[in-house]
Amino acid sequence: MSWRVLFADDEPRVLETLANTLKHTKAKDWELHFVEDGTAAMIAMAQVPFDALVADLRMPGMDGLDLLHSTAVRYPGMVRLVLSGFAPTLSVFGILSHAHGFFAKPCDPIVLADAVGRKLSLREKMNNDGLRNLVLGIESLLLMPSTYSALGKAVKKHSISDEDLQDVVMSDIGLTAEVLRMAYFAVRPDAKPPESAAAALSSVGPAQAAGMYAAGVLHPFPDGAVEIFGIDDILQHSFQVSSVVVARLQEGQDAGVGPRDAVLAAFLHDVGKLAIIEAMPERYQHVIKLCKEEDLDCFEAERRVLGWTHAEAGGYLLALWGLPEELTDAVLRHHDPLEAGASPLRRMLYEADATAHRRT
Ligand SMILES: [Fe+2]
Ligand SMILES: [Fe+2]
Repeated sequence: MSWRVLFADDEPRVLETLANTLKHTKAKDWELHFVEDGTAAMIAMAQVPFDALVADLRMPGMDGLDLLHSTAVRYPGMVRLVLSGFAPTLSVFGILSHAHGFFAKPCDPIVLADAVGRKLSLREKMNNDGLRNLVLGIESLLLMPSTYSALGKAVKKHSISDEDLQDVVMSDIGLTAEVLRMAYFAVRPDAKPPESAAAALSSVGPAQAAGMYAAGVLHPFPDGAVEIFGIDDILQHSFQVSSVVVARLQEGQDAGVGPRDAVLAAFLHDVGKLAIIEAMPERYQHVIKLCKEEDLDCFEAERRVLGWTHAEAGGYLLALWGLPEELTDAVLRHHDPLEAGASPLRRMLYEADATAHRRT
């Protein structure tokens, strides 16, 4: 696949090394462009369409964060990544909502090309502009207002235990997804990727949650949204699907992944609904109306109104954020009976979701 990728870095030596090393990786077939500052990057993007931007953070004039932000506003369907010197943890929080990944220098060119290629392949699979712009354009998922204030109180007290923090996180779909996003966000040469999503979730401590909160990455749903869109019902349904999965695991069914990751997949399976409600509330109201008027399943109404479903929005979003493939794949396929048999977790999630829907 010949993708067009723009690199912006103020150090000519870095650009030269990238140009020389990337041609020995899978990026050899891509069209690579190199510019030395943010303004030059904006000019380049105005001239030809790019699929991805890989930006340094510290550059003279328009810095990396401004560049990423302007790119998100003007070209929401582009993949945006950071390639920068090691950033102190706090600044990573500030980058989280502007980029789809962070690579610390020095970054192995094979690792970089593989990661950029994976994100570009995902983008390619979203063959609908509305879906693509939603998934790549989401800055952060909104939280239940009650979770947001509970988290705020907890981090301000400075005394929350790891266990209490986990309870707050696991009471909210958006917060769980955001915490996992942070855990998979930065690729550093000195650090291994998390062993599992559950391990990643439990490795996030009060300091990181406080950092995300303080950096303004997290926001609550606006007043009235919870009632208008039935977000409480979405949350309750997610707890029900999680408990069906727990029961099946206790009966000895094998999900093909660790039990805690299977439960996480269940809890997050409808995360795409939250993304749609956040990004296109009027259209989602139309979906809800159509569901009621014609007694349709919501994914059927979504297909009619949007041309795609919350399963695609959620599955692709979590995949773009780098969560494990088994989990994101099960989320992507959770309304797809023909595909359900392809993996144990897909089948378990599909059946648990159907069981929970029958009970309501
Ligand atoms: Fe669903
Ligand atoms: Fe569901």
